[in-house]
Amino acid sequence: MCVFGMYVLDMYVLGIETSCDETGVAIYHPDRGLVAEALHSQIGLHAPYGGVVPELASRDHISRTLPLVKSALARADLGLGDLGAVAYTAGPGLLGALLVGATFGRSLAFSLGIPAVAIHHMEAHLLAPLLGESKPNFPFVALLVSGGHTLLMLVKAIGDYTLLGESIDDAAGEAFDKTAKLLGLPYPGGPQIATAALHGTRGRFTFPRPMTDRPGCDFSFSGLKTHALTTIRKLEPLSDQDRCDVAFAFQDAVVETLFIKCERALSQTGVSDLVMAGGVAANQQLRARLRDLVGIRVHYPPLQLCTDNGGMVAFAGWLRLNAGECTGLAVETRARWPMTELNPPL
Ligand code: KG4
Ligand code: ZN
Repeated sequence: MCVFGMYVLDMYVLGIETSCDETGVAIYHPDRGLVAEALHSQIGLHAPYGGVVPELASRDHISRTLPLVKSALARADLGLGDLGAVAYTAGPGLLGALLVGATFGRSLAFSLGIPAVAIHHMEAHLLAPLLGESKPNFPFVALLVSGGHTLLMLVKAIGDYTLLGESIDDAAGEAFDKTAKLLGLPYPGGPQIATAALHGTRGRFTFPRPMTDRPGCDFSFSGLKTHALTTIRKLEPLSDQDRCDVAFAFQDAVVETLFIKCERALSQTGVSDLVMAGGVAANQQLRARLRDLVGIRVHYPPLQLCTDNGGMVAFAGWLRLNAGECTGLAVETRARWPMTELNPPL
């Protein structure tokens, strides 16, 4: 039980996200919403390596976090004394990167004499659609599609998560990134593939829809990447049109596979609200296809809250704090942290 006892609901919560390659800071207030959002993306830092270099990520978070906190406070015209609590991402993610935000957040809260709460990165993604214009009703099915995870969850309440399906190998975002690399497109590959696919020719290549012929809601995306490799080898050297056509076929296969599994999860659970979150939720093709689900309301976070950001952490923090939860003084981070280990707030 929280040593700070009950909270006044109308407080400002500072959210800090450093689990991977974005330093995200934001301030949330229940009446005013997200009053400030500050983000630094490390894409330029990692692009020459074609993927995230963990040590570089950690060092960059160290130099970015404090200036971003200062700039978020200035944008909201607030001082440190106005903050009511601090929420920080404690996992899952890159351990060194997580430690930066967690140590900073926990220490700042201690120095200010205010509570802190450790947040699960994927729960923050999952709850971000509650900040959108159309809010889902509980229970709902959540499709969480990021660079590190592909999960289908039944969400009965905040913290009450039942796993319906997950990827047995690569995450959807990871498959986008790896396929983009094979095509010679820069990191991160998701938006690059989506843009190239706009000029692709439907029907020139057809990629498989992995695991859709088997029962259940699990995914497998590593075979798609291999299929892309085989296709590319036969075409080399690639023309721009080849690149767009392969991107189209790959994206089409991922979108169709996600669509089929969502449809299955919804009919299996009998719920009629679907929430989509995580970086791949920014994909417009996927959004368009999910509109074909009959009788289902589909909810997304605002676009800037799809990929990693501090706003979703501040908001998830407020929800948990508001329910009486807060985290002790120890800085505890977890590289791996199954969502099903989470509990509803006290
Ligand atoms: O949630 P996120 O920002 O970070 C993680 O927690 O992993 O997701 C990043 C992933 C990357 O793999 C990126 O390529 C993918 O989301 N992504 C997209 C799009 N925008 C980002 N994938 C497909 N289409 C997009 N428009
Ligand atoms: Zn994420």
